Amino acid sequence: MACPPDAAPLLGVNIDHVATLRNARGGSFPDPVLAAQQAVEAGADIITFHLREDRRHIRDADVERLKTTISAPLNFESALAPEMLDIICRVRPQMVCLVPERRQEVTTEGGLDVAGQLGRVREACARLADCGCRVSLFIEPSTRQIEASAQAGAPCIELHTGAYANAFDAADEAARQREFERIVAGLKRGRSLGLQTNAGHGLSLQSTPAIAARPEVSELHIGHALIGHAVFVGLKQSVRDFQAVIARAAATHS
Ligand code: PXP
Repeated sequence: MACPPDAAPLLGVNIDHVATLRNARGGSFPDPVLAAQQAVEAGADIITFHLREDRRHIRDADVERLKTTISAPLNFESALAPEMLDIICRVRPQMVCLVPERRQEVTTEGGLDVAGQLGRVREACARLADCGCRVSLFIEPSTRQIEASAQAGAPCIELHTGAYANAFDAADEAARQREFERIVAGLKRGRSLGLQTNAGHGLSLQSTPAIAARPEVSELHIGHALIGHAVFVGLKQSVRDFQAVIARAAATHS
């Protein structure tokens, strides 16, 4: 799924928040799998979801239904946990993104510490590759973690854009610039090591364009702001709006 460097980044639509809404009332509505279908119909390139160990949003039955009904590639976000790796190797999604996971967190906080557990990450990458999955590691844009990801044998990294997005939303110009430069340096370092470089977390319609304008970005994975925007414009229109800002930004690739 690597894009040529001058193509617009692919959009991975994260459907976890639809499941959160469903689970709030304990029933089956709204259905995250139907949301995934509609997102694909509207132009989502990839469907992203996180089966957390506590099953707080996406559940095992959702994963089975996603696998049998969604035509776009599935990007299965997962903790580095034996139970999850077993599920992934049975379900065989096209893509896996290994993320850190803490039970108390509201959302994925920080990136995976690849450098601090290189052997374990390398083993997981090899096992998932044997199962036919393209593996990505969700990491902070730090040279240490990027270099460790290459050593772990992952073909792909997703750089955590949360700090950049938070600075953008807070209109903290100095922090926004600093975080943006960290991301650009990380994208370049990743590419120089032969990695596919993706980005995601916290991105909104407003903060996405600067990231999408970077020619090194192959995929963007976006959830909260896209599902939030859908409350006002509908899911299909929200996907189209995000695809439009990504395409406009990518048209500026030099
Ligand atoms: N990428 C990864 C690896 C994530 O864990 C998440 C959140 O589940 C996202 C992207 C999307 O983040 P957000 O919902 O803030 O757009």
